[in-house]
Amino acid sequence: MKLTIVAGARPNFVKIAPLMRALSQYNEVFNTRLVHTGQHYDKNMSSSFFQELNIPNPDINLEVGSGTHAEQTANIMIKFERELLENRPDLVIVVGDVNSTLACAITAKKLGIKVAHVEAGIRSGDILMPEEINRLVTDSITDYFFTTTVQASEQLKREGHSEKDIYFVGNIMIDTLLYSMQNLKKPDVFSEIGDHSYLTITLHRPSNVDNPEKLEEILNAIADSSKGLLKVFPVHPRTRKILERVNIKSEEFLFIDPLSYLNFIYLVKNSTGIVTDSGGITEEATVLFIPCLTMRNTTERPETVTIGSNYLIGSDLDLLRSKLSDIVNNNWKESGIPDLWDGKTANRIVNILLNSR
Ligand code: UD1
Repeated sequence: MKLTIVAGARPNFVKIAPLMRALSQYNEVFNTRLVHTGQHYDKNMSSSFFQELNIPNPDINLEVGSGTHAEQTANIMIKFERELLENRPDLVIVVGDVNSTLACAITAKKLGIKVAHVEAGIRSGDILMPEEINRLVTDSITDYFFTTTVQASEQLKREGHSEKDIYFVGNIMIDTLLYSMQNLKKPDVFSEIGDHSYLTITLHRPSNVDNPEKLEEILNAIADSSKGLLKVFPVHPRTRKILERVNIKSEEFLFIDPLSYLNFIYLVKNSTGIVTDSGGITEEATVLFIPCLTMRNTTERPETVTIGSNYLIGSDLDLLRSKLSDIVNNNWKESGIPDLWDGKTANRIVNILLNSR
């Protein structure tokens, strides 16, 4: 069975690592080609993930780089079509919800190649998010749906997809998390953190970071209600550009470059709490039982709130202050871990592919 696996952006790399490892157990069955679209290209956004997670070098890098949504999506489609015409697989596997996911799913389907989507069926309900559009379009043309939760499977059925194509396999990001726990690496910033307690901050969504005033308000609200705690902020390149125009009143922020995976999970695991607008981090926080505040109005991962350690703040800064005080005062909810977030998701996917031949 010829497979083409697609990865383009940082969260994709975390999701394909366990899949590549599980597939490599069946080299006599699967002929696998790994395509990197080049959506992310900085060392800390891409190659450090390949090295640390032992992902094989991509068979090809389409080197599309940055651009507007239309430019990036179109460039990926043009180059991925050439790739598929030269190396036609039986199945293309896409993961997550980034522009590479959408572009490669459409390209494959238009060439009559089947598409599998890992992390299918999650929905924020917020159509203004580019990722929500990517999820909806990808799932509308997917043949094999691999879902993280029962709710995601139910969502796909509500959208009219056939039950026989939907496989609840669990959360593949957690495969990588659990596999990596013994190998975490202390980031250099600990020479400054020392024994201090700290919060981990990550913000990169356009709605939070593209307007410098909004970003300033959020950071100053965090500072107000967490005095005495350091705030360690690995800064996404998108946020870095805006940060230069932001006036932060607190001395307690440590702004650092994006971290590699093993560094970042080390940072999260040892933090008092997290403020983020990432979806993947809310899942990792849940499994690590770290209190987490999400600076978004919606989440496509509601189980991180109903079961896990996450709380949805939206843009209400008073709520942010109040919930941060709860974290600082060690007054956080009891939480648990959703079903099948157990480190075995990639094996389940591979077993399904083996049975589908
Ligand atoms: C993308 C995903 C988002 C995901 C995030 C994780 C889409 C629509 N969005 O957002 O869902 O949460 O990745 O990081 O696919 N840049 C660099 N170096 C890089 C990559 C990006 O400097 O290696 C800068 C460029 O200025 C670029 C900007 O970051 O224009 C945004 O990159 P892009 O890939 O368009 O989206 P992300 O914000 O990273």
